[in-house]
Amino acid sequence: MAKLSPDVGPKDPQIVILFGATGDLARRKLLPGLFHLVSGGFIPGCRIIGLSLDELDADGFRAMARGALDEFSTRRIDKADWAAFAEMLDYVPLAAGPKVLREAVDKADAALGGAARRLHYLSVPPSAALSAVRLLGEAELVERSRVVMEKPFGTDLDSAVVLNTRLHEVFAEDQIFRIDHFLGKEPAQNILAFRFANGLFEPIWNRNFIDHVQIDVPETLGLGKRTGFYEQTGAYRDMVVTHLFQILAFMAMEPPTALEPRSISEEKNKVFRSMLPIDPDDVVRGQYIGYRSEDGVDPESDTETFIALKCLIDNWRWAGVPFYLRTGKRLAEGQRIISIAFREPPKSMFPAGSGVGAQGPDHLTFDLADASKMSLSFYGKRPGPGMKLDKLSLQFAMQETGRIGDVLEAYERLILDAMRGDRTLFTTAEGIERLWEVSIPLLETPPPVRLYQPGSWGPKSIHQLVAPHAWRLPFERAWRDPNPAGS
Ligand code: BG6
Repeated sequence: MAKLSPDVGPKDPQIVILFGATGDLARRKLLPGLFHLVSGGFIPGCRIIGLSLDELDADGFRAMARGALDEFSTRRIDKADWAAFAEMLDYVPLAAGPKVLREAVDKADAALGGAARRLHYLSVPPSAALSAVRLLGEAELVERSRVVMEKPFGTDLDSAVVLNTRLHEVFAEDQIFRIDHFLGKEPAQNILAFRFANGLFEPIWNRNFIDHVQIDVPETLGLGKRTGFYEQTGAYRDMVVTHLFQILAFMAMEPPTALEPRSISEEKNKVFRSMLPIDPDDVVRGQYIGYRSEDGVDPESDTETFIALKCLIDNWRWAGVPFYLRTGKRLAEGQRIISIAFREPPKSMFPAGSGVGAQGPDHLTFDLADASKMSLSFYGKRPGPGMKLDKLSLQFAMQETGRIGDVLEAYERLILDAMRGDRTLFTTAEGIERLWEVSIPLLETPPPVRLYQPGSWGPKSIHQLVAPHAWRLPFERAWRDPNPAGS
């Protein structure tokens, strides 16, 4: 594999201490991601110590990691790269305790020349995260360390405050990196570029020109082996409090004074502070038919596998503009879009029947897929006699830049940032606690779950929620194919 320029990576060698090393996220994303970062030359020296409840040895962990790469890596695995990576792997069963962990870290440090930094990656649920943090404290692995936390960051305001307090007993806030992988997605960062690197759109980015916004992340996948986690979590905590609200903040924030963590967090937190508490009457909770009979699910479960809601940001820029958010499992399509609907013109000179307005308002749409796309739709004249109007669009696809291969997968990007100590794309304790605060009315009096058919778009009441508007998905017109067959 071609070695890439290392100047975007950390300066020091890194020891990754990976808790939850045999879990779903480690197998799907973290191990393949670390493999790519290491073999791409982004990290100047690396050792990875896996930890989990499983009684494995280093060879067992290597075999597991290889299996994960074979199953989930999106890139070709070069033989020599794998051999080098396998050498970097070590394993400590959690039951072995702090002394054995410390010895393994010291050994890794010696192999890296004695000046490595440590990245503790807690790919475990919150209850296990606190015991991992305690273990790290007992093993005296706090200095020269950063710790990456996975969501959910608590399950409500009280538990988030307790979690943050306990974390701060061991690690300082500036050592803690709360990961939200949606912010590591290339197109999420492109929202910042699009808004703040151009003079064209920012002047109309407000309540005077924007009618409403949709952040819509339907998924086709079900829960597989994650029912245990999901029963405690549900769609709101799993997706909305974390990913969707973070994307909303990028969409809605004021221009930060600089592209640096403090200014960006400050502006995001201002959005969260301006959010009105979520009104349970503005929420549709759904559960797909069949969920209750899955393994690990309570036959009377009230957990939502779907949620759609309206939220309002009560500030000068956005007062009165509804933001509609939707996400759920086993839905008709897998999509991740942000759709901005512009206000319609106040008067129309076009005759009845010309088609003006017939296909909804003008839209700016961001597709947050890795191969991201953007589209701006508008009315234009249909060629020929008379004045008939059609909905047309300007579209951009990242694929057209010819640099799609340079895109780092979201976790890769964020692991690299954490290793460099760059917190720009991470969330703060203050932001998270405020999001739990606006969630209180919903968590205290959730509306009943409504059943929906797998493969549908959710319960029927989603249409009332957005009326008089309509959901953008499913799209009436498909994206243009940037590489049509034969081109
Ligand atoms: C995870 C959620 O954080 O994000 C999952 O726990 C969800 O339930 C996933 O499926 C979606 O992420 P992506 O990157 O596949 O869109």
